[in-house]
Amino acid sequence: MCENIRNFAPKKQKHMLKIENLHASIGGKEILKGIDLTVRDGEVHAIMGLNGAGKSTLSNVIVGHPAYEVTEGSITFNGKDLLALNPEERAHEGIFLSFQQPVEIPGVSMVNFMRAALNAKRKHLSLEPMPAGDFLKLMREKRAIVELDSKLASRSVNEGFSGGEKKRNEIFQMAMLEPVLAILDETDSGLDVDALRVVAEGFNKLRKPETSAIVITHYQRLLDYLKPDIIHVLIDGRIVKTGGPELATEIENRGFDWIRTPQPPLGGEQTPQPPLGGE
Ligand SMILES: Nc1ncnc2c1ncn2[C@@H]1O[C@H](COP(=O)(O)OP(=O)(O)OP(=O)(O)O)[C@@H](O)[C@H]1O
Ligand SMILES: [Mg+2]
Repeated sequence: MCENIRNFAPKKQKHMLKIENLHASIGGKEILKGIDLTVRDGEVHAIMGLNGAGKSTLSNVIVGHPAYEVTEGSITFNGKDLLALNPEERAHEGIFLSFQQPVEIPGVSMVNFMRAALNAKRKHLSLEPMPAGDFLKLMREKRAIVELDSKLASRSVNEGFSGGEKKRNEIFQMAMLEPVLAILDETDSGLDVDALRVVAEGFNKLRKPETSAIVITHYQRLLDYLKPDIIHVLIDGRIVKTGGPELATEIENRGFDWIRTPQPPLGGEQTPQPPLGGE
């Protein structure tokens, strides 16, 4: 039972994820133009920003999507050079991405998909495949946390799932794989208000003191549940502002224009903003 406990023990690291001066392109077009981001153990960071700013690009680059080319900068994860690892190795290191647009995998049942993913992780940890009975029990337990319908779990991965069902299924997969760093890319979009509460509360139940998350969203509502420590605003491939939870409220009320075009402070202190390229 405890033979591999050391493998699961949290490593005491100050910085879990450190991104420095990250530049990345797709199809020869530079999307990320110098991202700096540090996530420490246990922190929840939110990233907000306009459509097309590069938020999904950043998540894809962190997990190693092959379509993106990193042209400059570095990413370290628990002391390792993440950019030297392939996507599967990054997953084994404990990074999980909940996709903005989850893909359908017709012909692959959820059960087989999850079993393969879980056992691949166990193999990496030098553990035997999980016995079938234990696996099905785990599926039931984790399904209950996000209230995923058992009928969905017996279908092909995401095939014909509604938008909201796909998002719920992403968090179910996260629950099964217990990542060290979870990246949620607009997991709230498509969820009805009840589903949003269930998924967000499920996410909170799954959190451990040492696990961290990067949450990409356009809306305050998800952040009300997840209570991020730090909010970043990403515009045109750069993080142009970082603040506490109050920043999300301010964005909800005022939009992004005041960040894009720095204006005189409204009573509070404001730090000068870096220039925004383009336009
Ligand atoms: N294959 C591609 N070729 C050219 N441009 C691309 C390609 N894929 C993405 N882009 C562009 O990269 C930019 C950043 O896209 P990204 O998906 O990262 O934005 P986002 O911040 O996640 O936006 P949203 O809030 O709408 O999800 C967009 O302008 C997009 O059109
Ligand atoms: Mg996106």
